[in-house]
Formats: sequence, structure tokens, C-alpha cells
Amino acid sequence: MKRIGVLTSGGDAPGMNAAIRAVVRTAVYKDMQVYGIRRGFKGLIKGEIDQMDVKSVGEILHRGGTILNTARSELFKTEEGLKKAINVLNVFGIEGLVVIGGDGSFRGALDLCERGFPVVAIPGTIDNDIACTEQTIGFDTAVNTVLEAINKIRDTVTSHERTNIIEVMGRHAGDIAIYTAIAGGAEGILIPEMPLDIDKLCKRIIEGRNRGKSSSIIILAEGAGKAVELEKIIEEKTGMETRATVLGYIQRGGSPTAADIILASRMGYHAVELLENDIGNRVVAIRRNQIVDYDIKEALDMPKEFNQDLYNLALVLSI
Ligand code: F6P
Repeated sequence: MKRIGVLTSGGDAPGMNAAIRAVVRTAVYKDMQVYGIRRGFKGLIKGEIDQMDVKSVGEILHRGGTILNTARSELFKTEEGLKKAINVLNVFGIEGLVVIGGDGSFRGALDLCERGFPVVAIPGTIDNDIACTEQTIGFDTAVNTVLEAINKIRDTVTSHERTNIIEVMGRHAGDIAIYTAIAGGAEGILIPEMPLDIDKLCKRIIEGRNRGKSSSIIILAEGAGKAVELEKIIEEKTGMETRATVLGYIQRGGSPTAADIILASRMGYHAVELLENDIGNRVVAIRRNQIVDYDIKEALDMPKEFNQDLYNLALVLSI
């Protein structure tokens, strides 16, 4: 391939810019033309496309968000929308596409592949909920952002001898919750992969208090419940003053960590190498620190493995 496109889609994630930069610079290095598509699949349908060069990705490595903007498109999910998108790609002479995004974006990429248009997908989402890869771009930064917040909340929670439930992102995967519970020394953890057992949690809080713990931090993944609803229940059941903190979109922003920038750079480079060799319909992933790729349909069908060992570790260390 000599002319490729790149877009970001779905929820933004820190490191997406580093991935765009890697795609653009690798393509230029390999004498390929590269076109940036704005606003994801929505912009693709409308033809919001500009050629990119080495300079258009300068000074973005340290920036969160995505310089190409992102959007969700209902029209793209229809046959009419897909047809329009492929027409636009053909009009611009784009032969292959790099899609950077999460699960929903991968389904859009698969729709294009099934209609004969080659796409390579790169996992960019803070949730770390893509089964085929051990890490997604943005996850490490989000974990560090949450950790900073936990450490600040720890100061006030110990001063007031309270319990604080901190709600973090993760609709289907508790990865942000598990990693931050371990790193932040949380006393409890609630995730969508495990049944919600409030009595068990309250028993742990009470046992901790009886052993001399004067405060507790509980990490709750959004897919497991609402912090504001649990606040009163926990206060009533434990008799400890309880507060809720919903971290929300702060988790999606900020400068990417070095780990995310490096992961994004490696994945972006690999995606272009695949397209250069006329290989499409792939998802780029990292396994055992090696950049690998999978068939996109197989990748989407893989069940996300629950990291039981890390969850157990979080529980053991939180006593
Ligand atoms: O997919 C990432 C994520 O951050 C989820 O954890 C969260 O529920 C969702 O995006 C929110 O997305 P938005 O409000 O932008 O649609």
C-alpha cells in the first residue's frame, strides 16, 4: 500500500496522539502517504480528511486526548453509512486504514474488513478491556491519575477517620480498580467481574476498625455500582462516616506516561508495517512485551480473561 488513513474513535485515551504520530512518521519514513480522518467514523462518512506530514504530528507526544478528535457514529453502524464510508475512502485513494480505539471502534473496523476494506486496529482505551492484548494504550496513565487522587483522598480520609468509596471507570472490566486498589493500598474493591457483596465488604471494614484501622478506602469500578448509592448503605451498616468520590473524566485526560507513549509508538509502527505489506483485518496487541497481531474477528471473539491472581493479591494486601 502507498496511501493509508488513520482515525481515532470512541472514548479518548492518553497516548492516542503518540500512536497517531507513530503511524504518520512511520508511513512518511516508508515513502507512503498518510491521511488523517477527523472525528472517527462520523468524520469519515463526511469526508473530513486531510493529508498529514511529519510536521503535523510535532509537539503532540506529551498531549492527552487526540488531535484528530473522536466521535461515536450511529450512521456508521448501518449499511448505508458503511457504503458511504467506503466510497469516501475510494475517492481519496486510501488503500488501508488504521483505527485507534476500543471495543466499539473495533466492531466498526470489522464491518469495513468484512466489506473488503483492509483495516488494522490499535487498542486505545483506558479500560484495558480488549481481550487479545495484555495492555491498552491509556490504561497506565489512567491508573497513575487515579493513584494520585487516591493518595490525596487518603490524607483527608485519615484525618476525619472516615470511609471513602472512590468510583473509577470500567464498565465491563475492573482492571483500573484492581491496579489502583493494589497501588493505593485500598481496604476494599468492588468490580463487575465479581458479585457485589456489601455485607462482606462491611464486615471487612468493621474487622479493620476493630484491629485499629481508623479509616478505609474502597475502590469501586463503575460497572459494579454507584458510589453515591453505596455511601449511605455502608455508613448505616458499619456505623462509620462514609463519603463518595466519583473521579469521572479526569481519568481520561492528562499527559501520557512513558509506558503509554512507548506502547503507542510500538503499536503505531507495527500497524503501518502490516499495511505496507498489504496485510489488513488485524488487531495489534502486546503479549509478553512483544508486539503481535491477531485476526480482527478472532480478536473480537476472544473472551477477556479475568486476572484472578491480581484480584486475590488486592484482597490479601487489603486486610
Ligand atoms: O470506554 C472508556 C470509558 O472511559 C468507560 O470507562 C466509560 O464508561 C465511558 O468511556 C464513558 O464514555 P463517554 O461518556 O465518553 O461516552
